[in-house]
Amino acid sequence: MRFPLSHYLLVFVSVLSLSRVTEAQSAPAIFYPFGSVAGDTVNIAIEDENSTQVDLWSPFVFFGRIYNRIYVNSNGHLTFKQSSSQYIVNYFPINGSEDIIAPLWTDVDVSINGIISYQQYSSGSVLTQATQDINQYFPDLSFTANWVLVATWDRVAYFYHSGTETSFQVVLISGGDLAFILMNYGDIAVAYNMVQAGYDTINSTAYFKIPESDVGSSIPNLKNSTNVNVPGRWAFRVDSGPDQNIQGNILGVQMRVTSFSDLRESGKIEPVLEKLQQELVKYGLPSSVKLTLRRIQKTQP
Ligand SMILES: *[C@@H]1O[C@H](CO)[C@@H](O)[C@H](O)[C@H]1NC(C)=O
Ligand SMILES: *[C@@H]1O[C@H](CO)[C@@H](O)[C@H](O)[C@H]1NC(C)=O
Ligand SMILES: *[C@@H]1O[C@H](CO)[C@@H](O)[C@H](O)[C@H]1NC(C)=O
Ligand SMILES: *[C@@H]1O[C@H](CO)[C@@H](O)[C@H](O)[C@H]1NC(C)=O
Repeated sequence: MRFPLSHYLLVFVSVLSLSRVTEAQSAPAIFYPFGSVAGDTVNIAIEDENSTQVDLWSPFVFFGRIYNRIYVNSNGHLTFKQSSSQYIVNYFPINGSEDIIAPLWTDVDVSINGIISYQQYSSGSVLTQATQDINQYFPDLSFTANWVLVATWDRVAYFYHSGTETSFQVVLISGGDLAFILMNYGDIAVAYNMVQAGYDTINSTAYFKIPESDVGSSIPNLKNSTNVNVPGRWAFRVDSGPDQNIQGNILGVQMRVTSFSDLRESGKIEPVLEKLQQELVKYGLPSSVKLTLRRIQKTQP
């Protein structure tokens, strides 16, 4: 099918800068305070499947939906509507009926080793730290944190792999109408079970999978990966309504094409994105920049 020369395309891509960091860092340095030292509540999982319902001191907005409680599920993820003991990972986008925050969704078994603990804050130095971090990563918002929840999986074992030790943390931060999550990664063991890190929403109107986080042999690299130039840390703004794309860097590009079949067909858009990537790099973006198509729209001249 051919279209007249004068048709324009609007191509929306998300730009993700994957900085690889070379020097080794002591990962727990990026962790927010946790454990008994910080006064955390411990999620005592006698068996390998357990969840703790946490009544939130302050409502948390996740892509337009307001939640007053959250479940800290032992298998490395948080849910809002009900607890989940699911150790079989559903890959994002699920297009399902749950909002999910998954710092590292996999089959965790703390009956072997490890501690899962959490704590909420509405005052003190943790709020100061959260305020500083968010203003650094999202500089134009003049953000002030008034509530933080930290949940930590400290040296937990994977099911059926005793001796594995994996440490990660998720930090929920809110203030005013804004909400953010941080995911912090320490030493992460290779996983033989299914695994995935990121978040997903009801009907997957917004979702994010940390690249390579669904490859068990690659996940030790989480410790070196980041979207905010801090090795081992990923930061996301998550308050936006479900119809808004939050994914940090959304770019709208208007292109004039002389002919096209249908760029929405699989395989057709990739060469275009590759060209676009090369152009962006010329204008100063890191060559590790990754483009994925969010939306494509045909417009009249
Ligand atoms: C889950 O954890 C709670 C404590 O948070 C504990 O009382 C309960 O027995 C645990 N349930 C299972 C099935 O481990
Ligand atoms: C998501 O699920 C709905 C049915 O609940 C279906 O109509 C829709 O096509 C699905 N979307 C995608 C992208 O799979
Ligand atoms: C999700 O999709 C289903 C089916 O398309 C729809 O009925 C439902 O209202 C949607 N839920 C939300 C929260 O948008
Ligand atoms: C992180 O990067 C450093 C330097 O490249 C490397 O020595 C180390 O093995 C990496 N760690 C992981 C867990 O990939």
